[in-house]
Amino acid sequence: MGYSKCATSGETEVYGVIGDPIDHTMSPAIQNAAFQSTQINAVYVPFCVKKSELKNAIQGIRALGVKGFNVTVPHKVGIIRYLDRIDRTADEIGSVNTIVNSGGLLYGYNTDGAGALKSLEEAGAQVNDKSILLFGAGGASRALAYSFASHAKTIKIINRTMSKAKQLQRRLQKKFEVDVAVIGLSSGLIKDFVDEADIIVNASSMGHGGLVDPPVKQIWLRPSQFVLDIVYNPIKTKLLRIAEEAGATTIDGLHMLVNQGACSFEIWTGKKAPVAAMHDAIRQKVLV
Ligand code: ATR
Repeated sequence: MGYSKCATSGETEVYGVIGDPIDHTMSPAIQNAAFQSTQINAVYVPFCVKKSELKNAIQGIRALGVKGFNVTVPHKVGIIRYLDRIDRTADEIGSVNTIVNSGGLLYGYNTDGAGALKSLEEAGAQVNDKSILLFGAGGASRALAYSFASHAKTIKIINRTMSKAKQLQRRLQKKFEVDVAVIGLSSGLIKDFVDEADIIVNASSMGHGGLVDPPVKQIWLRPSQFVLDIVYNPIKTKLLRIAEEAGATTIDGLHMLVNQGACSFEIWTGKKAPVAAMHDAIRQKVLV
């Protein structure tokens, strides 16, 4: 029998997510399904933590012995100063989304990049030696760009703010062999960038809430391409819809969410994440 939320005992371990707002987080559904499916006696709880309360929250986490937690907006950068150790890539990206509490020491990681690679792999996309087009140059984009950069042939970045795209370009070129090109959102080269890409990834907030969409036309896309969108509200963004219509392979933001959660679960427990159970839980939640 699996452990449900009602089956907590003195041995139940506590995990969670901190953010503000936190009401709409899907992580508890994903992680509690994973704990139940693997028979781990643990619960995963959402905590709404205001920016001004972050330091107190971390003290509370240490005092209560919370075993591990995820970090979401607006704390992914601010949390770093309260950690005892930080994984090298997370440090370079400057953003943490997963913390392990190991005997009172807090270790920070970022699983966004690994989650994206896992999602692409699941869909049959090989990143090795490929041309990748990335929309965005914020925290999530940086994490994804770093994980693509050690495999890909080229990374092309399109971002609203050119200075941020150029900064990411410099950081990638300093550390990796990969070719990096950047343009702004109003550039006439966007069609060429889309055409040259094997894999197109929207890691920006464009498409969220169905508002501003990435400037891609269906006729620029083709069946051999893979299109990943990290936005999951709506699940089928306009970018994914036109990619599907063009015959490309699409990967939605829920896959990405489950896979970055699966990477967190594996860091916390050392066990293989039950990805199918995690997917079921999230699909049930969004269909309610
Ligand atoms: P996250 O941590 O989720 O990556 P972020 O660091 O704030 O969040 O990054 C958001 C990304 O979405 C950025 O690339 C941002 O572009 P800017 O660098 O120009 O800010 C992009 N973005 C957000 N809203 C956008 C909009 N309305 N149009 C175009 N790009 C947008």
